[in-house]
Amino acid sequence: MSGPGQGDGCARVATVRCADEAATHALGARLGRLARPGDAIALDGPLGAGKTVFSKGVGRGLGVPGRIHSPTFILLAVHEGGRLPLFHADLYRLGDVSELDVLGLEDAADGLLLVEWASLFDEALPADHLAVELIIDDDARDVHLRATGPRAAALLDRLLVGDGTDRG
Ligand SMILES: Nc1ncnc2c1ncn2[C@@H]1O[C@H](COP(=O)(O)OP(=O)(O)OP(=O)(O)O)[C@@H](O)[C@H]1O
Ligand SMILES: [Mg+2]
Repeated sequence: MSGPGQGDGCARVATVRCADEAATHALGARLGRLARPGDAIALDGPLGAGKTVFSKGVGRGLGVPGRIHSPTFILLAVHEGGRLPLFHADLYRLGDVSELDVLGLEDAADGLLLVEWASLFDEALPADHLAVELIIDDDARDVHLRATGPRAAALLDRLLVGDGTDRG
């Protein structure tokens, strides 16, 4: 894991190499354990990069009961029953920016918002979010994490100091 701080004690960028699917899942789970109400995570990367694998980990980290599936065809799935409600969206098949309104992503203010293919519609995420980009390298993934504001920087900082490491 790398990520120099930028003078304010909070790292804004970091890269985590996930050697296999389990590592990507575990990284998501750590963020799920560390997230606070109103946090938002943008997931990007090509088809098959591991966005849904990562999302399943986030759900596990939040303690969401049951399975997390790709919400590709329903665009938004709301998972209750964990430490925070998880609002899991996938914008791949969203046709138009006007359809964002009916998704109701703003309801995620009391939970954790997690958006696959977030960069297709920049308006979908709050300005302050953790941008997560998964880069495919054979069976490994280089996961680039970038905080776009103080809230996300705090989340990233908690991740980098090792709080929320896997405890099984
Ligand atoms: N290091 C890794 N991390 C995550 N997934 C991996 C890794 N190595 C191989 N894989 C495989 O890559 C695939 C990732 O699929 P996943 O559905 O999570 O991708 P996605 O980014 O959500 O794709 P889509 O844009 O189609 O929804 C899985 O089949 C998984 O087994
Ligand atoms: Mg997916």
